[in-house]
Amino acid sequence: MAIRNSATHYGSVAMFLHWTIALLIIINICLGLFLPDLHGGASANPNLFAQWQIHKSIGLTVLSLSVLRVLWRLINPVPPLPATMNAGLKFLARATQFILYVLILAIPLSGWTMASASRLGIATPYFFLFDWPNLPFFNGMDVHARVAAHEQWENIHAALAWSAIVLIPLHVAGALYHQFIRRDDVMKQMLPGSA
Ligand code: HEM
Repeated sequence: MAIRNSATHYGSVAMFLHWTIALLIIINICLGLFLPDLHGGASANPNLFAQWQIHKSIGLTVLSLSVLRVLWRLINPVPPLPATMNAGLKFLARATQFILYVLILAIPLSGWTMASASRLGIATPYFFLFDWPNLPFFNGMDVHARVAAHEQWENIHAALAWSAIVLIPLHVAGALYHQFIRRDDVMKQMLPGSA
């Protein structure tokens, strides 16, 4: 399989980034929804604290891979949608993809901003290997301002994550529609071994 995208298929780098980011986002949505609330870091349960550090580490990995993904997309041709698709469907597919690109950057960025505003002010222990620094915007703010900013960014993070929870099934439904109803090559463009 070619490393770069061709005129008809995504290459191995684009596929690796697509499927790794997809898997990590699904894991992180599950962790975000099912882990008990950390109450801004004040939970007395050390296991829960560690589990949220895993959530943050996965999210920061998604952010790094997503930056690479956007850069890779900018320097690679994108396989076109089939000519048989009408303009409305093409617009829907491309608009969903564009919003998903925004979300894979904005969700982890909002989480990182929220964590940086925490009144605890501790860096994220990235998979317990090294400290991933906080964003500097909240340095020097008093505790009330930090608590308010943390809450505001928590709401933004949750709203963005919920947008992904709605859009990902639409994106998957679109791929399945191509594969099983239109029976064209759109889904195969992103599947390993089908070039
Ligand atoms: C793939 C990226 C990410 C996804 C899909 C994701 C998803 C979620 C979801 C669904 C929630 C629960 C929201 C709710 O209250 O309904 C959540 C909470 C949270 N996320 Fe993320 N997140 C991501 C990245 C990050 C990053 C990068 C950080 C920080 C570095 C982070 C920190 C947090 C924190 C601190 C909470 C709330 C913990 C509490 O309950 O106090 N997230 N996330």
